[in-house]
Parts: sequence; structure tokens; C-alpha cells
Amino acid sequence: MAGVAIMGYGVVGSGVAEIIAKHPQMLSARAGQDIYLKYILDVRDFPDSPFADKMIKDFSIIENDPEVSIVVETIGGSTFAYDFTKRALLAGKHVITSNKELVAKHAVEFFEIAADKNVNYLFEASVGGGIPIIRPLNQCLAANKVEEVYGILNGTTNYILTRMIESGLSFEDALKEAQALGYAEANPSADIHGDDACRKICILSALAFGFHVYPDMVRIEGIQNIGAEDIEMADMLGRKIKLLGRAKRMEDDKIYLSVSPYMIPATSPLATINGVFNGIMVKGDSVDEVLFYGRGAGKLPTASAIVADVIDAAKHDRARKWMDWEPADPDRIADCRQVAHEYFVRLQSDDFSAVLAKATEIFGEGNILQLVKTSDTVGGIVVAEIKEGLFFEKLDALKTACGEGVVANKLMLF
Ligand code: HSE
Repeated sequence: MAGVAIMGYGVVGSGVAEIIAKHPQMLSARAGQDIYLKYILDVRDFPDSPFADKMIKDFSIIENDPEVSIVVETIGGSTFAYDFTKRALLAGKHVITSNKELVAKHAVEFFEIAADKNVNYLFEASVGGGIPIIRPLNQCLAANKVEEVYGILNGTTNYILTRMIESGLSFEDALKEAQALGYAEANPSADIHGDDACRKICILSALAFGFHVYPDMVRIEGIQNIGAEDIEMADMLGRKIKLLGRAKRMEDDKIYLSVSPYMIPATSPLATINGVFNGIMVKGDSVDEVLFYGRGAGKLPTASAIVADVIDAAKHDRARKWMDWEPADPDRIADCRQVAHEYFVRLQSDDFSAVLAKATEIFGEGNILQLVKTSDTVGGIVVAEIKEGLFFEKLDALKTACGEGVVANKLMLF
């Protein structure tokens, strides 16, 4: 018998309760022992919930109940969630989480406690919602030296960009829709500014390259500056704008880490991934490219990954799953300024031709690969591959020569 306690009865936590209630025999058969929901911990009251009789407010009830062997953490954040996860592991209980913030910040500490107590700390739902990616990367692709992991890791921003592209919705209206559908974080700023995708690329990078990556080691940019003109000009260039997380092994074996909106070719498989769907590409030295695709956020897809972890924990009740990595190694992180990309630059000026002439002079004539325009005063150039540090120096020179306002936006090409 494996008693389960869910901590946090929000969108995902309620989905976990629903799935356990929907398929008790099937889940128990797959786990090799009876799985049953014993408690739901939340500070709020849910008198009308079908699980009202399981609601508790005191974590120590879970901590001290020997019938609870599996704890699901869907609280989010890293305050109560950190404290309760640590105490649950120390009490010898498996912990299953969808909380990428907590994994990205504290996984190494939790792995140590889990190893000491011979229990599992599992986090399949922390990346890609319902998409199986953690186990495939850790187990099925274990024969590969991973060259790169990249993809669309945030459902909310992909939903917003898709609605802006396909239906001409404003950023604000598209965000409201994503929130109403339960995709966004409690504070959607983490989605918009790239922090959520950042936490996910930290986790994928750790699995792929074997050492912990903290969020502050990643170069982050969100989608807040993307305007309708960028979307229109991307289309003219045969491209689409997608927020991508990237972890790439460079020639010197250092890892380049970024979260940023990129202009990707419209023919890329990732360009066809729309709405809340996520797509994660893994490049291995033997397998070549593998693409993982599915719903990256939402109640039941995310709960599906959690309940699979619950089954796995129950099946490995006395033999811990080895799902961990080494502590962080800052020496292995590449300096972003030394990494080269092609760039798109959106320029705007009443004297557009003068700004274009100056940009051509600064970047060098042969380095302006393409020019597109949406009006007499707004256009975009594609600049040939250039190291990021040097690109920013040249952009500053352009602003100094023509005025800060002439550079409206810039995006990397992929
Ligand atoms: N806010 C996240 C997203 C939820 O939109 O992808 C899933 O991690």
C-alpha cells in the first residue's frame, strides 16, 4: 500500500487527485501495490471539492504518517515547497514534483538527502508538462554524448506568440487567454521574461551534460519586446519567432546556455509547434536528432507526468532510481559574448536611409545579408554571423551615431 499526499491543490495538484481517483486499479496494477490518495495539503478551504475529506493544513500530519510513502509537491516557488520537500525526504518519503524552480535551485541538495534515505526525488513534470523528456534524456539516450538540447519550453509564451501571429491578438489579450486556460505561472512575469524556460533549460542541461546549472548561469531574454513589426518582418524573411531555451556543447567542451526569442526558419520542425505545445530537440552523437512534442502546460498533461512518477516511485520503493547529477561547475559554462550568431535588427527612423547607411558602414557592407521594410520608416536588417560582444559594441556605435531610438529591437537567428 502506497499512501499519497498532495501538497498544493492548484491547477496541477487537483489534476493529480483527479487522475488517481479516475484509474485506481490501473495505477495500482502498474505500480505493483495499491496507490491511494490519503491527504491534500493546502492553506485554502475547498468545501465543495470531491476530495474535501482529505484536506489538511498541517504538514506535520504528512511527515509523521507512516502510511504516506509518496509526497507530491505542486505548491510551486521555493519557500514552503523547499521546506516541505526537505522534511518529506528526511522522513524517508519519495517526493515527486512539477516545481522546476525548486529543482533548478536545490536539486543537488535533495539528491543527497534522497540517496541517504534511499528514496526517490523525481521531476518528470518539471519540463515539458506532459511530454516524456526527463527519463528519455536520462535513460533512453544514455549511450550518446549529447551535443545540444534546445526547444520551445514555455507553453504560455508559445501560446501568446502563436495567437499574435495567427489571429493578430494583442500581447495582453493573448496573455489573458493563456492565464484563463491555466497555462501561466501564478506570476506570469516568469513566463514572459524567460525565467520559467530558463529553469527548464537548467534541468535539461544538467541531465544532458552531467552537472548542475543555476538559473543565473543562463543568458536570458523574454518576449516582452516582440512587436507586430518583428512578427511581420520574420514572415517576410521566411522565419517565425519562437522563445527557445538552448544548451549547446561548444568546441572547447564548454556549454553555451541561453533563453531568448529567436527567428527560426519557417521550415524548422519547431516552427510548426504552436499554442501551448512544447517541442524539445535533443542532438546526440549516435542517435542524431530526436524531437519530443506535446502539451507543455495544463492541468491533466502535467498531472499525467506526475502520476507516472508516483507509479515509478512505488515500483522502486526499496531500490532508488538513479536520477541525479554533479554539483555546478562554472568553469564549464561558455562566455556568451564569445559565441557568434546571425542577428536581425529592427530599425526605425524618419530618415531611414541615413540610418541604414550608418548601419552598413558600422557592420560592413558585406555583412548586411538581408533588408526588409514594413513602411518608409521601419525596416529590419539581417547581420552576418558575429560574436555577441562585438555585435553589442557595434549596436551601441549605431545608437551613438543616430540616436538611441533607432534600434527598436534585435533578435538572434537560429
Ligand atoms: N507556465 C508554464 C508554461 C507551465 O507556460 O509552460 C508549465 O511549466
